[in-house]
Amino acid sequence: MDIPPLRAPRAAGPEPPAAAELAGYVVAAAVWAPSVHNSQPWWFSADGQEISLHADAGRQLPVADPRGREMMISCGAALFTARLALRSLGYVPETSVLPDPAQPLLVARVSWRQQVAATGYEQRLFHQVPLRRTHRGGFDPLPLAPELLTALADGARRDGATLRVVGDEGHRAALAAVTETAEHALRADSMYARELASWAPAPGSTRRDGVPHTAYPAQPGRTLPHFAGRDFAHGHGWGTARPGPGAGPRSAGVVCLLTTAGDRPVDWVNAGQALQRALLTGATCGVAAALHSQPLERARLREFIRTELGDGSFPQLVLRLGTVIQTAASVRRRPASVLFASGGEHLSIGPG
Ligand SMILES: Cc1cc2nc3c(=O)[nH]c(=O)nc-3n(C[C@H](O)[C@H](O)[C@H](O)COP(=O)(O)O)c2cc1C
Repeated sequence: MDIPPLRAPRAAGPEPPAAAELAGYVVAAAVWAPSVHNSQPWWFSADGQEISLHADAGRQLPVADPRGREMMISCGAALFTARLALRSLGYVPETSVLPDPAQPLLVARVSWRQQVAATGYEQRLFHQVPLRRTHRGGFDPLPLAPELLTALADGARRDGATLRVVGDEGHRAALAAVTETAEHALRADSMYARELASWAPAPGSTRRDGVPHTAYPAQPGRTLPHFAGRDFAHGHGWGTARPGPGAGPRSAGVVCLLTTAGDRPVDWVNAGQALQRALLTGATCGVAAALHSQPLERARLREFIRTELGDGSFPQLVLRLGTVIQTAASVRRRPASVLFASGGEHLSIGPG
């Protein structure tokens, strides 16, 4: 799909942009965050100099994600993007995560008062927000710069999470095998398969959510070790044409585990913020990511990863990082359809 540029709000002379226009800008960026099955489980409300991010429980995956863990990771990614959008305008976001125990779906409140010019790094990250895409498949057999891997680990720590490279060959192979086992189990579970199918629309669909056929290959190649992908096409042969005939197995890339010390909603939001920071940081260096949450949707396999392949902290996502020519395209709901004034009415932020 066409990706509209994220246009900064017009400042009327020395006056700051109107609050509604600013909220529209922030939300137009935040909707490009990654989310499980592209469910986009969020909505926003704006009240003067404050934007609230809410989880949309109606978009939670009751079968794959009964606790709302992946929903909250997705919202965390949207939160990081909203904060980054404010930084791109030179505002310093003040964020309170899960500020009201009586409202567990109120993910965060973000306000802004101070101004400090955005750094080059922040601008480069922000530029990637609408361009970054999830990759599905193998990578070029090229190593990644150690400086990038260090920057990714440091960045995750800033958001309260840990991004650890799974370097040990045996552990990589075990993680691949657990992912494949999970994928088999999920495909054999009819309730799960129905739920996934409801988020994987047919070609020609005009839906603005779910995983479109333009986002995954029709014939997923194998990786070494092999990390099984999700069955978005569910037997229909949908997907994009695969690259070059006779292409053999490709590199699985640098395999990483994103973990948190705890396993509460606040940890999931932190993991989502760390995820989006890592994805955007990689994208600034031409590095794409493939995400695997299948083994984390089966409690026993998740526990196996936590205790046998990790350090006892809670795995939130498996990532594979690498370089590749990307062709995937995705969709998003219009910002105006997920942004409301605090009284409940839609904010008028123009087309889009
Ligand atoms: C919590 C979470 C779990 C995800 N799990 C998977 C997965 O198992 N397999 C996959 O192909 N993509 C996975 N994704 C990526 C989403 O499908 C992707 O973000 C969404 O379709 C939007 O596409 P985009 O990232 O290209 O913008 C996951 C994303 C999140 C945030």
